[in-house]
Amino acid sequence: MLDKLKEIEQNARKALHQISDVDELNDFKVKLLGRKGEITLLLRGLKELSAEQRAEVGKVANQLKGDLENLITSRAEEIKQRELDLRLAKEAIDVTLPGQPILSGGKHPLSLVLEEMIDIFTGMGFAVAEGPEVETDYYNFEALNIPKNHPARDMQDSFYISEEVLLRTHTSPVQVRTMEKLAPQVPVKIIVPGRVYRKDDDATHSPMFNQIEGLLIDRNVTFANLKGTLMLFAQRIFGEDVRVRYRPSFFPFTEPSAEMDVSCVMCKGSGCRVCSNTGWLEVLGGGMVHPRVLEHGGYNPEEVTGFAFGIGIERITMLKYGINDLRLFFGNDKRFLKQF
Ligand code: PHE
Repeated sequence: MLDKLKEIEQNARKALHQISDVDELNDFKVKLLGRKGEITLLLRGLKELSAEQRAEVGKVANQLKGDLENLITSRAEEIKQRELDLRLAKEAIDVTLPGQPILSGGKHPLSLVLEEMIDIFTGMGFAVAEGPEVETDYYNFEALNIPKNHPARDMQDSFYISEEVLLRTHTSPVQVRTMEKLAPQVPVKIIVPGRVYRKDDDATHSPMFNQIEGLLIDRNVTFANLKGTLMLFAQRIFGEDVRVRYRPSFFPFTEPSAEMDVSCVMCKGSGCRVCSNTGWLEVLGGGMVHPRVLEHGGYNPEEVTGFAFGIGIERITMLKYGINDLRLFFGNDKRFLKQF
């Protein structure tokens, strides 16, 4: 019997080396040590032995069972480790590969420039005010000294909702709305960013566009203050070396009125296609608040004066970035938007 055990042991050790997967190993273990396994069956013969022999064989058999169990366990470890190594070799992760970036959106060029403009003016002490995009005829025109049937209404073709209600054609109505709230306090020092609507549509005009209105009312405000404020704005947005000039103009709600040009941002003033060889680009309108507008807002034009200006944000953005078609802003073409 001892010989038989020895033989079982030798065969088992040999067989163990051939086994290379966990299922096979389990089968092997059952066949050897299970309830109907080779060793179990052999040991049934113990009862035919003498007590002395039984004790000796029992000891050897128990020893062998323990040894084999250990061998099987460590073989199982080996197999698992080999399988893991194989998988790692196959699915290896190359940590030097570039990661997959999480795509995040960027700001629209109009938002970038709007934010920059707001920074510039709030830096000079202007507060941000807002007003409705659906506006009454009174605030959009009447209060700004543009009576019904006045030819100045032709300057701004409009979207009417009813005879007395329209989409605002400029941010100027917020001038009077703000004055009404604050009068007779001074100073009034606001900018008004917002969407405005006009009935035109081509490469340089969109039926919806954005403006920033500026309004300063105080004692002794002069045209020089307007020039100083806008000069500083032009330098901040286009660079220190920009030059500005004023041309007389007309707006019913400012008197005197002017338009401000800046030296061409493309050719620096020497003349090119963008500035039609004039060296200058028109960027905004402004002037001294008309006495009648001050009155409509609740201020006494004998006591206070003010200046106002309106800037087109699309226009500034086009000049700043050299964009030649305004429709690009609203086309949602990622090839365009990605560049900002
Ligand atoms: N509201 C005018 C426009 O849209 C611009 C402007 C604003 C002019 C304030 C003078 C003063 O054309």
